[in-house]
Amino acid sequence: MTTTMFNERLDQLPAYPFPRLAALLDGIKPGQSPLVMSIGEPQHEPPAMITEAMVKHASLWHKYPPGSGTPELRDAIKNWLDRRYNLPTDMINRDDHVLPVAGTREALYLIATTVIPQDQPGPKPKVLLPNPFYQVYCGAAVLNDAEMVPLAAGPETNFLPDLDQIDTETLDACRLFFLCSPANPQGAIASRDYLERIIGLARKHDFVLAMDECYADIYDKKAPVGALEICAAQGGNMDNVLVFHSLSKRSSAPGLRSGFVAGDAKIVKRFTALRSYCSATIPMPVMAASTALWNDDAHAEENRDLYRAKIDIAEDVFGNRFGFYRPPGGFFLWLDVGDDEAATKKIWKEAGVKVIPGSYLSITDANGNNPGKQFIRIALVHDLETTRDGLTRIAKALES
Ligand SMILES: Cc1ncc(COP(=O)(O)O)c(C=O)c1O
Repeated sequence: MTTTMFNERLDQLPAYPFPRLAALLDGIKPGQSPLVMSIGEPQHEPPAMITEAMVKHASLWHKYPPGSGTPELRDAIKNWLDRRYNLPTDMINRDDHVLPVAGTREALYLIATTVIPQDQPGPKPKVLLPNPFYQVYCGAAVLNDAEMVPLAAGPETNFLPDLDQIDTETLDACRLFFLCSPANPQGAIASRDYLERIIGLARKHDFVLAMDECYADIYDKKAPVGALEICAAQGGNMDNVLVFHSLSKRSSAPGLRSGFVAGDAKIVKRFTALRSYCSATIPMPVMAASTALWNDDAHAEENRDLYRAKIDIAEDVFGNRFGFYRPPGGFFLWLDVGDDEAATKKIWKEAGVKVIPGSYLSITDANGNNPGKQFIRIALVHDLETTRDGLTRIAKALES
């Protein structure tokens, strides 16, 4: 028998997209001054209220923060959810349904540890996720010893998994289903009807629906419907549903590490119990800043307008070339370039712009299909001028 000092499940994970990109571009000299448009890290000026609140609450650095957040923060989150999704005020109770987390990345990972049954006889439980996907979903599935089931989300299904294509056996074995709306990378928004159907499936087959709604406040025309809105229309029943939200994109503050989870009280309770054993809590001054941010919608609106202006620029630059469409939500372009790696190298070599190949954000499924391989993702995270410059350079490289 061989033994190892390591958790060998780590070796089953695909390489993370950014080191893969670095390896792909290694040795290629950028033809112009380098510009990074591969990573979804908002570069907009973060609201001044962050610093103001942190300075005002600087005396609290000496405190261990409560794991489930301050009542003020949970109140601010509850009130934001009520405003944003027009929820009845008696639906969300700040103490039972809301859990602040140190960024949604950790929460998306830990929800798997919270809900995936361990050491059960029979086949492994399944975790369903869209393909392409935010990489943490895959880590959450594999490291919790579940079977990951990627569901193609290409143009033929409006960039969302086709719920009719999932067989009953798979749904019965599913314990956790990740869905992202607005979707990273394609920007697709799940309709009310789609959400009603997936929530219905979660209850019928008894799995947890983890709705990643991190981009909920960044949209082009219509505010994306949220899973809790569907629950509200069902008399406030939040069974099997959890939503994940973040200040990283809404408030251009990825460095704050602040987000929350909300929904089914039974899951929130178990999640809170798990987190007291392992999670980073949000420092008190950061909680004060987060409270101010969730209480304010004006900065989020300004932020959204800025992204919309960049989508206008992208439309102006690409028109109907490279499969360009205005992403309904989020801040990524998902361009059809034929060969994703070849295009990524060419854009770096000729334009000096770093983008990411679509196949690095997706995996090859059991049918040998990788739904990302003809696409590149471009993050519109810079100011207007830089964005126009970057996109113009990309278009020129792709055309040549
Ligand atoms: C779809 C999606 N979910 C979750 C996250 C994690 O966000 P954070 O941990 O900053 O809240 C990201 C960040 O890029 C994302 O794109």
